[in-house]
Amino acid sequence: MNLPRKVRIVEVGPRDGLQNEKQTIATATKIQLIENLVAAGLTYIEAGSFVNPKWVPQMADSGEVFSGIARKPHVTYAALTPNLQGYERAIAVGANEVAIFAAASEAFSQKNINCTIAESIQRFAALIDAAKAQQIPVRGYISCVLGCPYSGAVDAHQVASIARELLAMGCYEISLGDTIGVGTAGQTKQLIETVARDIPIEKIAAHMHDTYGQALANIFAALEMGVSVIDSSVAGLGGCPYAAGATGNVATEDLVYLLNGLGIEHGVNLDKLIYAGNTISAALNKPTNSKVAKAMSK
Ligand code: HMG
Ligand code: MG
Repeated sequence: MNLPRKVRIVEVGPRDGLQNEKQTIATATKIQLIENLVAAGLTYIEAGSFVNPKWVPQMADSGEVFSGIARKPHVTYAALTPNLQGYERAIAVGANEVAIFAAASEAFSQKNINCTIAESIQRFAALIDAAKAQQIPVRGYISCVLGCPYSGAVDAHQVASIARELLAMGCYEISLGDTIGVGTAGQTKQLIETVARDIPIEKIAAHMHDTYGQALANIFAALEMGVSVIDSSVAGLGGCPYAAGATGNVATEDLVYLLNGLGIEHGVNLDKLIYAGNTISAALNKPTNSKVAKAMSK
């Protein structure tokens, strides 16, 4: 098997995981989650988002979250930012990195960020210029890479062309998001093969939601293609407010279990990670979505 020796896990639970929760979550609970994830060994945490709070009320306190975390110097605390205004809010509270997000389908771009794909890329240019001037790394997401909730099938060449454009603008990495979790392993391979013709495989990350239970299979397919950066969400929390029915990302606990089985390095302590996942699940008063956490917590 041709698998990477080491994987970098991008923990998106505090952002992608919590953004869709309807109940009010105390700022202190969010901070505790981030600190528990860091204690488990995660070194890259997407800690919040600086979008319009009217669109995603749950992330309205991201500034307080960033300001309240007891920072560790070896950890990257990243923020999701849709435009220059969001970028400036994130930098003001010390985000180490930002992530922008474009869609692979026009319909999703309109619903999620209220503009066309081309307009969104124009907006990102100003943000990326500001980030370059301040030496802040910018990560790029592309949503709906394996299907759109509004317009169905998505052409892999369209994904590749946006990936190329975002990379050329200055993103250091492109995270391919199966926002509604509809993709299967064969499609994932085809998509990565197509995108990797246009950008280096080292620049590609996989961001798999588990709506149809395919996330781990898709991740394994991505690993086999040479992808070595995987996004995941502790306890499998989450979903996108603008993709009805979309559930959480692959659970970080399940990803870590898979990587352990494959002998791939990742730097995370599974027991401490399960503690972080079970603690936030208890705070949200819901069962964990991680099968590994369920099995190991009995
Ligand atoms: P808009 O309404 O078109 O923005 O929204 P606008 O520029 O016309 O401004 C309207 C108002 O929003 C103004 O305020 C601005 O100040 C304010 P008003 O004058 O009306 O009082 N505003 C902001 N306020 C705070 N922070 C900002 C900001 N920007 C404008 N950054 C916008 C455009 C992009 C802002 C909006 O559509 C938005 O916030 N969308 C957020 C959508 C979102 O967060 N979706 C979930 C994350 S994406 C995701 O989950 C997918 C991912 O995980 C990958 C995957 O799974 O595939 C990343
Ligand atoms: Mg997502």
